[in-house]
Amino acid sequence: MSFARKDLVGIADLEEHEILTLLDTAERFRELNERPIKKVPTLRGRSVIHLFLEPSTRTRTSFDIAAKRMSADTFSVGGVTSSAVKGETLLDTARNLHAMRPDVIVVRHKMAGTAALLAKALPCSVINAGDGFHEHPTQALLDALTLRQRLGGFEGRTVTIVGDIAHSRVARSNVILLTRLGARVRVCGPRTLIPPGIEALGAVACDRLRDAIEDADVVMMLRIQQERIDQGGHYFPNTREYSRLYGLNLDTMRRARPDVLVMHPGPVNRGVEISPEVADGPWSVILDQVTNGVAVRMSAMYHVMGADRAEAAVQRGADR
Ligand code: CP
Repeated sequence: MSFARKDLVGIADLEEHEILTLLDTAERFRELNERPIKKVPTLRGRSVIHLFLEPSTRTRTSFDIAAKRMSADTFSVGGVTSSAVKGETLLDTARNLHAMRPDVIVVRHKMAGTAALLAKALPCSVINAGDGFHEHPTQALLDALTLRQRLGGFEGRTVTIVGDIAHSRVARSNVILLTRLGARVRVCGPRTLIPPGIEALGAVACDRLRDAIEDADVVMMLRIQQERIDQGGHYFPNTREYSRLYGLNLDTMRRARPDVLVMHPGPVNRGVEISPEVADGPWSVILDQVTNGVAVRMSAMYHVMGADRAEAAVQRGADR
């Protein structure tokens, strides 16, 4: 098993063995993250730029912690503090950042395709931290790591993803990853928020929440991506109606298996897509997902920088 890519742009690009390599390495880093001293010299002397042009709490912080735990130097560019607000194009920003010779640029942007654009234009590695409604590969990987730890594997398991599927990069990356690893995926939400063609990715669409969660091993709740809907669309009558039909609460949970796992990528809108009792209840693995985010992002940076290949070469030399 190996991972020999310069970039991590999307799950759709990856072979099954590459996904498993990323997960296996993340497993090793997860152990490191539980030690009292959480630092290794693996990426000493390497530089990582976090270029976040959309808000983030979990992804940005965990990429930063991940890089620092591997002894890389990190630099942040984003939002109103960057010259993007003065009219600079994304490509100009990226080329100028690359002129400072980073090893990796981690990018989040509202436009689908941003990470692929930068990966093609720049000689350094690019990791996608979320591009519009397209993909969020490290989120799907941390979700998969969490599920693998809890369930042991994916084959024959049923994962139901509920909410605004149409605007969700998390849903898209998860549908691709989970089906590739042998899980059955159902998606559920208002028909207006189920994208046409989701079946072609391997998911089955369900209209009613109670049908979608019945017998599922996992229920993954998503928030309404209001920042994308505000661009002009109206997809459901109002939030109260949405919550009544698609919200997960103690009442709807009675339809689920007692040992179901409840996931959410965050940020959670409590009382809309999930009630506090469920988000904080015994089924919830939401904070495990966040913990695993650091390990997965360590793994992603380690592999795109070729640290695994460098380590293997040293090992081959030692074996001679
Ligand atoms: N799950 C996720 O991407 O969270 P943030 O937007 O806080 O990074």
